[in-house]
Amino acid sequence: INRYGQDSIFSEIEELLEHDINTIALFPVINDSKKNSTGDEAINASNLMCETISNIKKRFPEIILISDVALDPYTDHGHDGILKNDYVDNDETLAVLRKQSLTLAQAGTDIIAPSDMMDGRIGSIREALDEMDYKNTILLSYAAKYNSKFYGPFRDAVNSASSLGKSSKSSYQMSPKNINEALHEVAMDINEGADIVMVKPGMPYLDIIKTVKDNFKIPVLAYQVSGEYSLLSNSIKKGLIDESSVLESLISFKRAGANAIVSYYADRIEDLIK
Ligand code: PBG
Repeated sequence: INRYGQDSIFSEIEELLEHDINTIALFPVINDSKKNSTGDEAINASNLMCETISNIKKRFPEIILISDVALDPYTDHGHDGILKNDYVDNDETLAVLRKQSLTLAQAGTDIIAPSDMMDGRIGSIREALDEMDYKNTILLSYAAKYNSKFYGPFRDAVNSASSLGKSSKSSYQMSPKNINEALHEVAMDINEGADIVMVKPGMPYLDIIKTVKDNFKIPVLAYQVSGEYSLLSNSIKKGLIDESSVLESLISFKRAGANAIVSYYADRIEDLIK
């Protein structure tokens, strides 16, 4: 999992365009000095995300940008929301997520992707966007997001692992044992105005992708997360498995019914197919 600087991201995008990849999801890594308990940097209209979005849009207007909405890159405790008595306060967090979404829309993102798992956030964000006339901004909901160990390399990359310490996100992310709750979450998010729903992680949750797609005729995205990527890429690097296993893993998402896939392998797929 690589990080890019505000300049090196341009050459990465040029490379992606050569591979016909036109959609990217941005995640910020914020200096510790800008983090606090309420994640205020998330709503600073000239923060790293907003600057990067408008720079990318100026240079590559054809690129479609997906921007994550959650407070974990900005909080000193590493949680996605605001803590009250060691518990994430759903409603207090919603107010900040609305503002975060608006700053991202103002900066020019095409797709707002709430990954925080607070209840009611899709409706609340949709309302805020509509009020400010961002009627065409797409809402991609991380609807079925499991409390997974497969996010490990990502948390290292955004520095939230050390802030989280032993604390877990189990009070707002879903239990890996639960199928019904995924359907419940997806139904809520569709009712509140989600345009696309996400299932995450991918490979350990193929049954969820299929169940969601079978029950709701809405675009479903699968996210092959950092831990899945690391498992594959480390095994490939060691010569334990062939790199074409990557295609096999992505085909399994399509078989399950995913309409699109978020993957750290996006820039390798064209070559692998050839
Ligand atoms: C945070 C967020 C996470 C990922 C995307 N957005 C991590 C988490 O919930 O701790 C994980 C992505 C990956 O592992 O590739 N809101």
